[in-house]
Amino acid sequence: MNIILLGAPGAGKGTQATKISEKYRLPHISTGDIFRDNIKRQTPVGLLAKSYTDNGKLVPDEVTCEIVKGRLEADDCKNGYLLDGFPRNLFQAETLESFSKADAVLNIDVDLSLLMARLCGRRVCKDCGESYHVDFLGGKTVCERCGGELYQRKDDNEETVGNRLKVYSEQTAPLIAYYSERNVLLNIDGVGAIDEVFARIVAALK
Ligand code: AP5
Ligand code: MG
Ligand code: ZN
Repeated sequence: MNIILLGAPGAGKGTQATKISEKYRLPHISTGDIFRDNIKRQTPVGLLAKSYTDNGKLVPDEVTCEIVKGRLEADDCKNGYLLDGFPRNLFQAETLESFSKADAVLNIDVDLSLLMARLCGRRVCKDCGESYHVDFLGGKTVCERCGGELYQRKDDNEETVGNRLKVYSEQTAPLIAYYSERNVLLNIDGVGAIDEVFARIVAALK
């Protein structure tokens, strides 16, 4: 099964992706994670991507599409994949369609007014990438899954989140209509406990 996770910054794509990937045994492919990994390792892609991700702008399409195309050719994608954060505009959606078709597009729907608080309070495990929120950590500073140290993403500040939400509304939100027209869109209410949202996803995929 080829699944795309669509949703605004902070809607819970990464959080749900961990669970979907475990249950359906699909490789979790997050373009944001790929860029952050490249930035950390200071690769050519990382050096290029940094100024975009730091400002909440989209990394140029040619670079992003090539990375995804290459990644989907890997052996572990033979039986399907879970894309998180790609495609993010019409050009990327059309490019993806030229080499692979999505079976289901999960649109995680959360009112934009809730996202600033979700993102500014997010903490991420530096080892396994799991996301947490300070409100639910109870003062803990290490990851529940692997014991890794938690950090705050550089783009999780008010100004950059503002830019990311704007980019989402202008460029990514039109993909909801795009996939609806192709009859693969599944709308998921993304407000509620993480496990409740996951149960909605599992029900929608049946
Ligand atoms: P990316 O890493 O994809 O960031 P994003 O789209 O802004 O999304 P986030 O990862 O911030 O949110 P999420 O939906 O995964 O939420 P999460 O589960 O963590 O992209 C980063 C940058 O990379 C972009 O700005 C761009 O520069 C570049 N980039 C990436 N892809 C690109 C592309 N295709 N083209 C060009 N450039 C690209 O949850 C958020 C918080 O909410 C957490 O604290 C979590 O604990 C909490 N939370 C989750 N679920 C719930 C719930 N049900 N209730 C309450 N809190 C919850
Ligand atoms: Mg994410
Ligand atoms: Zn961890």
